[in-house]
Amino acid sequence: MKEYAYLTRFMKSIKAGKQHTAFITGASSGLGDAYANALAQSGFDLIITARRKEKLEECKKVLEKKHSVSVVTIQADLSKQDDIGRLENEIEKSRNLCMLINNAGFGAMDYFAASPLSKVLDMLHVHVTATTRLCRAAVPVMKKNGTGYIINVSSLMAFMPLAGQVMYSATKSYIVHFSEALQQELQKSSIKVQALCPGFIATNFLKSPEYSESDSEALRMDSITMKPEKVVEESLLALKKRKVIFIPGMKNRLLYHILYNRPGLWLIKKIAGRMMSSIKQE
Ligand SMILES: NC(=O)c1ccc[n+]([C@@H]2O[C@H](COP(=O)([O-])OP(=O)(O)OC[C@H]3O[C@@H](n4cnc5c(N)ncnc54)[C@H](OP(=O)(O)O)[C@@H]3O)[C@@H](O)[C@H]2O)c1
Repeated sequence: MKEYAYLTRFMKSIKAGKQHTAFITGASSGLGDAYANALAQSGFDLIITARRKEKLEECKKVLEKKHSVSVVTIQADLSKQDDIGRLENEIEKSRNLCMLINNAGFGAMDYFAASPLSKVLDMLHVHVTATTRLCRAAVPVMKKNGTGYIINVSSLMAFMPLAGQVMYSATKSYIVHFSEALQQELQKSSIKVQALCPGFIATNFLKSPEYSESDSEALRMDSITMKPEKVVEESLLALKKRKVIFIPGMKNRLLYHILYNRPGLWLIKKIAGRMMSSIKQE
């Protein structure tokens, strides 16, 4: 893995010589795995969670060997309330908790009324319920510790309500509003909240089973796709800043400003409508 001397120095200053733990959801691949690597390199102990136990165990082996940190793995499906409950218990027990990264997530490209209700609810639970419940468990622990960092992974799609992405853009937009309001409540504490809003990232996101019915790889635009390590580096360094919403990558920030004025969004809606016309509504 690339060495991030500057980042490592900053992350070590967060730890201030103490042993601290970072709790990361969706750490079995992509962005979550990159967060785990960057934080282990800075000496954080980790609690990592996802559904694929074998992937988590592989990560644990590599991270413990390379960085001499302690890594606990917990298999959990965040679409299930009982599994979220088990993670809440772990957070409440974790006395050294310094960082919570609500990263687990998935996308899907289909019509809202045509997608099975179970899939709709799964996304609601993974993005909204899990993020909310884990923050609710972590904030009291962080308050007690006097400090803490929460990164809730949203998306640029939070600002783009589009056909074919009804649940995705709505749930990611919840994460943005939730994080902003939570930070306001925590203004007087030393807890920092970030809503990370990336554009395309080179991960397996578009190859997940939920995207299997669409030609999702065709969606990705190489010129604005970022490496997960770069997104993580920018996200962690942005914890220094006061802003809650953080968009990694210059091109993404530019895109955000173009889209956020109405003509830009109108054009994107037209393109999305064309793409969706090849997908059956019933
Ligand atoms: N890649 C992009 O272009 C992009 C852009 C903007 C935002 N994001 C966001 O970035 C985050 C990370 O995605 P990624 O790009 O790293 O994709 P990824 O490689 O597919 O990783 C997704 C992670 O979420 C976990 N996950 C998915 N469903 C889960 C469930 N029901 N319960 C528990 N864990 C679950 C997966 O683990 P298991 O399969 O092992 O459970 C995996 O570790 C997501 O929140 C995504 O919305 C991605």
